[in-house]
Amino acid sequence: MRAGHATVSVDRGKWTARLGSAGFGGPAREGARLIEFQSVRKQYPNGTVAVEELSLSVETGTITVLVGPSGCGKTTLMRMVNRMIEPSSGTVSVNGTDVRDRDPAQLRRGIGYVIQQAGLFPHRTVLDNIATVPLLAGGTRRAARHRAGELLDLVGLPAELGTRYPAQLSGGQQQRVGVARALAADPPVLLMDEPFSAVDPVVREGLQDELLRLQDELGKTVLFVTHDIDEAVKVGEKVAVLRQGGHLAQYARPDDLLASPSDDFVTSFVGRDRGYRRLSFVDAANLRPSPVPTVRLGGRIPSDDRWRLAVDEGDRPRGWLPPGAGSAGPLREDELVAGGSLHAEHGSLRGALDAALSAPSGLGVVVNAAGAAVGVVTADEVLSLLDGHRAAT
Ligand SMILES: Nc1ncnc2c1ncn2[C@@H]1O[C@H](COP(=O)(O)OP(=O)(O)OP(=O)(O)O)[C@@H](O)[C@H]1O
Ligand SMILES: [Mg+2]
Repeated sequence: MRAGHATVSVDRGKWTARLGSAGFGGPAREGARLIEFQSVRKQYPNGTVAVEELSLSVETGTITVLVGPSGCGKTTLMRMVNRMIEPSSGTVSVNGTDVRDRDPAQLRRGIGYVIQQAGLFPHRTVLDNIATVPLLAGGTRRAARHRAGELLDLVGLPAELGTRYPAQLSGGQQQRVGVARALAADPPVLLMDEPFSAVDPVVREGLQDELLRLQDELGKTVLFVTHDIDEAVKVGEKVAVLRQGGHLAQYARPDDLLASPSDDFVTSFVGRDRGYRRLSFVDAANLRPSPVPTVRLGGRIPSDDRWRLAVDEGDRPRGWLPPGAGSAGPLREDELVAGGSLHAEHGSLRGALDAALSAPSGLGVVVNAAGAAVGVVTADEVLSLLDGHRAAT
């Protein structure tokens, strides 16, 4: 389990039973390599070599990310899995079978495909978009619609969106529908080609969180393409960095990629602030929040020389009252200084450090699952914990 990613407990057994399974002729073996590229090369008819002698295996039930600059062969590599593109040489196998020995239509039924801007059918409603694959597979319209409704819920969309057309949804909502459609046949494998790159950064983070939650719930084998290294290290359990010409530069866990990039290309690709990014993988369990003086909105407080955290009736942080700024009357929200980011209890050190650095008081607010403030941490505390962590590893 990665740090900073809250797990939502779900009834996976029930879900799987409800959906049935369009497997690959037998249960996938845990820890096995579900997708395997062996010495794969792709040269297009115009002479462009998009992928060069590349070998890579993707483990069952994990999210593997292909990341690299534009034109480095990510889409080409991914599309070889469902035979939208055939390799010039080498083999691609799924669950031990060379994809060339599989009927393409049948193969694709077991492989969900999500692309940028969702690729939804504009003249079909959301429910009919999601129901497309089950209907093609021979299900009844009623059963397919029912399943589509369940999937809408699974990807966090309200049921009433089901009767709308794609153009009547936001970009983020369309992307969720795209994910629901890809999941409709309960495929063991999901291919996702820059699925979230067309939406704004905030929506994008929400979609990434949602993908991780879904993955905890459904345990698919996901091959995910992005050119954004932040996205790659957030969603990937393993990350393959590709460079121009379809060469595999490094294949590693995100933490290892940030700690020890294999060469100059990977170093420059993972960026200057990789040390900071790496904090995402250090959990903050040993960080002990200290108590903080609070003041309730609507309350009164004599001025003193400390920062006070203003909270609402549920102890949720609303902002800071600076030193010397007491409140004679009921404390109003407009008297407060805006707070920084909040650090979720049990999150990563990156969140904790960011909370401290972004708070006007220098005190990072730690909140529990209900959003209530449980205390504060300073940047010094985070850094000394990090020193301890470094000494121990
Ligand atoms: N049908 C084609 N014919 C000729 N060359 C192609 C074809 N499709 C892709 N290419 C070339 O192959 C290389 C790899 O393309 P590919 O689409 O796999 O890259 P990518 O990593 O997905 O890029 P991006 O991040 O821009 O989506 C590029 O140089 C591209 O121009
Ligand atoms: Mg591409």
